[in-house]
Amino acid sequence: MKNYKQTAAFDRLQSLWEQSPDLLMLNRDAARNQQLTLETSNFLLDLTKTHLTPAFLDAYEQMLRELDLEAQIEDLFSGRKVNNTERRPALHTALRSDDDIFVDGQNIRPQIRETFERIRTLAGRLYQGRLTGITGKPLRYVVNIGIGGSYLGPLTVTAALKEQARIPVAFLSNVDDEHLQDVFRRFPPEETLYAVVSKSFTTPETLMNARHVQNHFKRQYGTEAIAKHFVAVTAHPGKAEAFGIAHANIFPMWDFVGGRYSLWSAAGISIALSLGYDVFARLLAGARLADADFRRLPLTQNPARLLAAVTFLYNNLAGYGIETYIPYRQRLQYLPLYLQQLIMESNGKSVQRDGRPSAGPTSPVVFGDTGTNAQHSFFQQLHQGTQEVPVFFLGYVRSATGALENRRFLLANLLAQAESLAFGRRHDEPHKHFPGNRPSVTWLWDALTPENLGYMLAVFEHKTFVESVLWNINAFDQFGVELGKINARKFDEHLKNRSGDTEIERFITRKMEE
Ligand code: F6P
Repeated sequence: MKNYKQTAAFDRLQSLWEQSPDLLMLNRDAARNQQLTLETSNFLLDLTKTHLTPAFLDAYEQMLRELDLEAQIEDLFSGRKVNNTERRPALHTALRSDDDIFVDGQNIRPQIRETFERIRTLAGRLYQGRLTGITGKPLRYVVNIGIGGSYLGPLTVTAALKEQARIPVAFLSNVDDEHLQDVFRRFPPEETLYAVVSKSFTTPETLMNARHVQNHFKRQYGTEAIAKHFVAVTAHPGKAEAFGIAHANIFPMWDFVGGRYSLWSAAGISIALSLGYDVFARLLAGARLADADFRRLPLTQNPARLLAAVTFLYNNLAGYGIETYIPYRQRLQYLPLYLQQLIMESNGKSVQRDGRPSAGPTSPVVFGDTGTNAQHSFFQQLHQGTQEVPVFFLGYVRSATGALENRRFLLANLLAQAESLAFGRRHDEPHKHFPGNRPSVTWLWDALTPENLGYMLAVFEHKTFVESVLWNINAFDQFGVELGKINARKFDEHLKNRSGDTEIERFITRKMEE
């Protein structure tokens, strides 16, 4: 398969970028601005403060055609083994679809439906107070024990939609013992349901944390407490059972769903348990709509494809290699963390699907924080630093509290930042000069509903996929995390046996023993 540099459209795109007027000039063209503003019934996507133009989008569309994007999308949705290195499909879209989909000749729809039904039943029993712990008290809290994709999606969603929360939820991810202590202190274990979420059920952080919690129950109440307080979500139910989780409490996820794409599966159990199954279903419905739009809408109305054009422009033509995501919504504080994993773990690779070196830059470095907080920390660099950083702003017109004055000021800040970055300000004193011509996208929504959130997250998944097509990357493996895992085991042995022969290991051993 080709990469972007092997297309005929690439030269044209490059020369369009090289000859591009600055943002001030571009924004004088009302017809262009109109074409670069996409409005639907619940959002407005403003691309006017980027260097995109209708001519650029024409050439970009030509490039996507040359790369056979449509065929690659159909391969993704229909369950072809797009994860070529692990010979697996990547069927996160199947989780939110109603269609029959076959993997190795087997229709996977019934197992998905059955799993969701079980989650719905569990959530119902929890709300009715019919789930009781070992002391007979009803379970009133949920703790998700998992890391990476078994944590960041549910964390982001439950925080974003906390208005809907029926059951408080906490997340235990880090193997740091203080994290464990903090979560333990927050919710009384006797009234808590623990969901151990691990696709592989081998992740040491997750197993270590789960083991600590299990030991607490075993010490206090004996092993029969485990069945009352633990459920597991995994693609390896045998391992969960061997770990002591009751067979009836194990929910499947599947190898055809990647970890960072798994919040839509049983790995999103904490969403369904905390916010309600109906909210989980609404999230999925939003994502389903994004899936349909991604497949059918023309480029100029297709958010995922347009947003990928922005990343391509600044990452591959301008060579910035970085981008930032700034939600003007405190409840979306975890979105940048979620996007970091989605984008960087998917596309942070240096080889193409067939193992050849990549043709150019792949995943940008991704970071972010909420506005206005970020304005008071790193925005200095965005406005006047030497490294250009494209910004993806996210805003919401309506809030859950209806405090209009705050909301207005929050949005005024978002608009002000986009304008200041794009158009700058001339000043004779160099320190007070703002160069402008710094790109940003503003994606403004009416409200942060489950449907809108599901739609947005799915669009970011598809944006990431389009980029992987441009770069000819397998977005669904993550071999880059393996070496560190192996070395962690080695160093753990050294530290345990005091056999490390470096200064730094000796320092740790000494301090641990003091
Ligand atoms: O270390 C990376 C990773 O493999 C992620 O891809 C994954 O989301 C995370 O670890 C957790 O994996 P698991 O769900 O198997 O515990």
